[in-house]
Amino acid sequence: MNLTQIEHLGIAVKSIEACLPYYEGVLGLKCYNIEVVEDQKVKTAFFKIGETKIELLEPTSEDSTIAKFIEKKGEGVHHIAFAVPSVQDALNEVAVKGIQLIDKAPRKGAEGLKIAFLHPKSTCSVLTELCE
Ligand code: CO
Repeated sequence: MNLTQIEHLGIAVKSIEACLPYYEGVLGLKCYNIEVVEDQKVKTAFFKIGETKIELLEPTSEDSTIAKFIEKKGEGVHHIAFAVPSVQDALNEVAVKGIQLIDKAPRKGAEGLKIAFLHPKSTCSVLTELCE
């Protein structure tokens, strides 16, 4: 695999609005984008830190995977996202190595990126996103 950087860390929260005073007021980060990703039933808020980002994920529906995650594990770190030159190439490469894929092909994520998820069963329990 050719990982170029940690693209972002995804953090599941019940309310983005309730978290803004901490991320902006305490950490001093600036939220530069809030966006709803309809097919994932999630609202996202992005903060830049150097070359990487924090992505807050708020469920927009009770059957959202983020809502289920919060129900099971509580709020907190949800996934790590690595930048790769080609998501499709990276998927092909890890599939050959027996890694379980959540997405067999890239799909459209927040910020117009191509993304795909690897199953935590195959990634030492950390839900892993690839971004292009
Ligand atoms: Co993400």
